Amino acid sequence: MYNRKIDDRWSFKEANTKEYTHCYHTYPAMMIPQVARTLIKEYKPNGRLSLILDPYMGSGTTLVESSLVGINSIGTDLNPLARLMSKVKTTHYDYHSLLMQFRDIQSSLITYTEDKVKDRNFDRISNYTFWYNESTLLKLSYLSQLIDATTDKDFFNIALSEVVREVSFTRNGEFKRYRMNEANIAKFNPDTFNLFERKVIRNLSGLEQFNEKAKGNVSAHIYDFNTVNGIPSNVIKDGDIDMVVTSPPYGDSRTTVAYGQFSRWTNEWFGFDNAKNLDSLLMGGGKATSELFTTKSLRDVLDEIDRLEHKRYLEVISFLNDYYLSIRNVAKAVRSGGTVCYVVGDRRVKAVQIPLDYFTAEMFESFGFKHQITLVREIPNKRMPSKNSPTNKTGAKVDTMSHEYIVILKKL
Ligand SMILES: C[S@@+](CC[C@H](N)C(=O)[O-])C[C@H]1O[C@@H](n2cnc3c(N)ncnc32)[C@H](O)[C@@H]1O
Repeated sequence: MYNRKIDDRWSFKEANTKEYTHCYHTYPAMMIPQVARTLIKEYKPNGRLSLILDPYMGSGTTLVESSLVGINSIGTDLNPLARLMSKVKTTHYDYHSLLMQFRDIQSSLITYTEDKVKDRNFDRISNYTFWYNESTLLKLSYLSQLIDATTDKDFFNIALSEVVREVSFTRNGEFKRYRMNEANIAKFNPDTFNLFERKVIRNLSGLEQFNEKAKGNVSAHIYDFNTVNGIPSNVIKDGDIDMVVTSPPYGDSRTTVAYGQFSRWTNEWFGFDNAKNLDSLLMGGGKATSELFTTKSLRDVLDEIDRLEHKRYLEVISFLNDYYLSIRNVAKAVRSGGTVCYVVGDRRVKAVQIPLDYFTAEMFESFGFKHQITLVREIPNKRMPSKNSPTNKTGAKVDTMSHEYIVILKKL
């Protein structure tokens, strides 16, 4: 239907995915930098290449890669943590000034005593005594206090953001909020300050590499608009975009990757908007009653899921409706001759595989694009659940998303 090409070269099995500022912060379902880099290099459109868009920016991989090769970029994400990460990762901070600021923080950490902590109100964090012990909360608050006295707060807040999550009682290796059992909590004694310092040191070395390589006069603009509802014309006009490089969600956050739950530690700590209900605002978070799109590629698949369970069918089309509306808006923003590269997975619902790559190609073609190729890659180092339950029953598991599909289209 839409040609798929299996290509081992795109697996990047041995690649270092943490070069430059890519090392700053983990995030669910991060794109491998080498994928964005190679797409920009090998699938750039003919002619003008001055603006790249990522409508689901996440941790900002596409924006960082665009900056590294001197191309302006625009990214948007509804998750405030994603925006903070992307901003910090694309900023050319003065390395030496950061070192001085860090030294000040470190000297204050040496003389820490609990009575130095000014802000002891944690009400913004839901159920905080369930997730943290008190001495950890005070240390986190002290770190925030020291960071607030620096010039480049965001740079240090990105390191703090990871710490806030890692010192909580959340189980390691999970995106969702699961608390450790009591036995593990009793043994859990993280060194909050040391963790923070190690992350700052790691990020400083990433920044040094980034500052050396990335071109100075390049802009990466970060927004919070939702392409499902439209693209603000004062930000992007029809035909402004030369290339889109993105990895959209694969389904709604409740049944696939829970971006909101993963980010809630940070979003609550910093008092960001929608910290508690983010997942319901992301793609597929609403309730659909009927299909807004016309599809040949998914017709049989959707009918089969509907036959198996109508409720699951409605969840799937709620996501696909949003995805379709977003594609419609993104398509308008791309210039004639421009290219789009969508990295998608084909998850299963009720053991029925949903080929999202076909749907992506079909929708873009309906808006004046021509499918070029779909590259199929294995996903060895992507941090995401490799199995899920098709029936939501424990034990009943099938493989999901062991491959990714890079759908490439060109606007006619
Ligand atoms: C697969 S992740 C992107 C990962 C990114 N490529 C990276 O390297 O980190 C998908 C992102 O889409 C965002 N998202 C979901 N629905 C959205 C919407 N309607 N508008 C903008 N962003 C959305 C999520 O918050 C998440 O950050």
